Amino acid sequence: MSRDQAPRPSWMTRRQFVGGMATAVLGGVSASAFNYHRSNATYQSLAAETWRHGDPNLKPHADVMKELVRYATLAANSHNTQPWRFALAGNRITIYPDFARRCPIVDPDDHHLFISLGCAAENLVQAAAAYGLSAAVSFNPATQGAIEIDLANMAPRRSALFEAIPTRQCTRAEYNGKPVPTAQLDLLGGTGEYFDVSAFLLTDKRRIESVLAYVLAGNSAQISDAAFIRELTHWMRFNAASAARWRDGLYSAASGNPQLPDWLGRMLLRVALTESGQNDLYRRQVRSSSGVIAFIGSREDKAGWTDVGRCCQRFMLQATALGIQQAFINQPIEVPAVRKQFSTYLGVGDRRVDLMLRFGYGPIMPRSLRRPPERVITAS
Ligand SMILES: Cc1cc2nc3c(=O)[nH]c(=O)nc-3n(C[C@H](O)[C@H](O)[C@H](O)COP(=O)(O)O)c2cc1C
Repeated sequence: MSRDQAPRPSWMTRRQFVGGMATAVLGGVSASAFNYHRSNATYQSLAAETWRHGDPNLKPHADVMKELVRYATLAANSHNTQPWRFALAGNRITIYPDFARRCPIVDPDDHHLFISLGCAAENLVQAAAAYGLSAAVSFNPATQGAIEIDLANMAPRRSALFEAIPTRQCTRAEYNGKPVPTAQLDLLGGTGEYFDVSAFLLTDKRRIESVLAYVLAGNSAQISDAAFIRELTHWMRFNAASAARWRDGLYSAASGNPQLPDWLGRMLLRVALTESGQNDLYRRQVRSSSGVIAFIGSREDKAGWTDVGRCCQRFMLQATALGIQQAFINQPIEVPAVRKQFSTYLGVGDRRVDLMLRFGYGPIMPRSLRRPPERVITAS
């Protein structure tokens, strides 16, 4: 698939989508009923405001600190719940978990939540260097776990990873299957060498097919879990107005799905999200990918998970810098029974596989939004 081809809807098959649209029309839902054009303009301007580089000559210290927080919020994070709060004090930025935004069904032990904080920390470190600040990162297990980042002056350095921050996205679409050159695979695999995290990078088609079997097993378990679907639906934003209003959650258009009023989206999701439809989708998506990477941290605790997040964010930024898209395929590791089997398959024994992503060349999708720094900075 070329970059400008329209992607297929990801949680609906084509037939289900047509059926859904017919339902919408029969239900008397017209584009004007949910003010599509005005909402879309608002969404577009928020997306442009969110996904941009800042002024490189920003001066007052307080403004730079706020800008670093903005960069941190552009990190990947589970269900786009943005489970973080930031406290600024002198030369220290502390990233606190926001447990009000946890996902107890898909992430009962807050594994994904702390990985998300690690992703944010890595963006912040890369941005700090661009603003002439070195960053020492430490994990403080007190107060239920927080990441403390101490900043000190240095010569400004705009890394390729920093440059990639505003263009990175999770691209949930089919890719074109083109192989990634070996030298670039080495760069991508090398992102796992940081913070004692191991990376398993697979490009062999037979091995990817085996990985796919675990993705399908995980997906089948999740689709038949009503609590999982309820939690997913809670974080879905089915149209531009809803995405712009909340500035968090999973914007359905970012996965190539049609814009629908929230009530209709929720209803159709229950009907259209079938095990076989989703499994077909994942077959196409995984088989069209150039490779798969799995990350395994050195320790199974909150500090270890934040390290995995930092590594994973480095991987995503490195891929973006090379013009390579990526998307998570975490299904095998989100379902404990499948996760055990998957660890055995990878030959890592009892160690927990923390994250898995596919990568390759695909289209650019609509962006997910973020809450602005003012809404995530709290008093220290
Ligand atoms: C720990 C973690 C787990 C995630 N799991 C999934 C997943 O299972 N499936 C998926 O499509 N995206 C997954 N994501 C991606 C997020 O949904 C995505 O980062 C978020 O919606 C924001 O979108 P963006 O990264 O394109 O800005 C995960 C991200 C993180 C950090």
